[in-house]
Amino acid sequence: MTVHIGAAPDQIAETVLMPGDPYRAKWAAETFLENAELVNEVRGMLGFTGTWNGNRVTIQGSGMGMPSLSIYANELITTYGAQTLIRIGSCGGMQPHVGIRDVIIAMTSSTITSPSTGFFKEINYAPCADYGLLSAAVRASEAKGTKTHVGGIYSSDVFYAERPDLDEQMVRHGILAVEMEAAELYTLAARHGRRALAVLTVSDHLQTGEALPSEDREKTFGDMVEIALEAAFA
Ligand code: HPA
Repeated sequence: MTVHIGAAPDQIAETVLMPGDPYRAKWAAETFLENAELVNEVRGMLGFTGTWNGNRVTIQGSGMGMPSLSIYANELITTYGAQTLIRIGSCGGMQPHVGIRDVIIAMTSSTITSPSTGFFKEINYAPCADYGLLSAAVRASEAKGTKTHVGGIYSSDVFYAERPDLDEQMVRHGILAVEMEAAELYTLAARHGRRALAVLTVSDHLQTGEALPSEDREKTFGDMVEIALEAAFA
């Protein structure tokens, strides 16, 4: 048990999928895992452990934004011994060739700040994905025929941004999409020698204003969960 996770030590698997939304954790566990058991409900941040193809998996909500994800990822790593942590979530497309429903596999993520900025000081640390997970996710995604982009993303601190000039620079520099958690997950995994990846679904587009209709979300998000599970156990 930790401050924010009520599970017993053996109730968390070595492989953890982390959606931002606790109800998406519930949906993914009920849809993809066998014998899924609720292992955390502290603050309503639901976590479930079950098996996928015989492999133990935990799906634990991270909340929105890097400070929230940082709490859960730290506790999963340092107390529960999580080895593989994969963020699954939505993102906003930033390039014209990135469409709604496409999958983004993040090699790296840029930030203005993250919970680690304070101690990196003058260093502009470049958080990066685990290459083995990344390449396995690309293979899984291609095998499904899902339209997939692999490259840099932007982990922002704000959903309601007031600086269009920043978005413009990100777009100019090839950033595929914006979300709010991946950079901290990659940084923590690097610090503790664990594997991390973010597999994201484009739910809206910053340039076109297009957004995924809610009835389409389950099927599209399902592809992303399967890609993450296949990558974890490749
Ligand atoms: N901004 C930040 N995070 C997001 C977005 C966005 O437009 N869409 C989905 N996650």
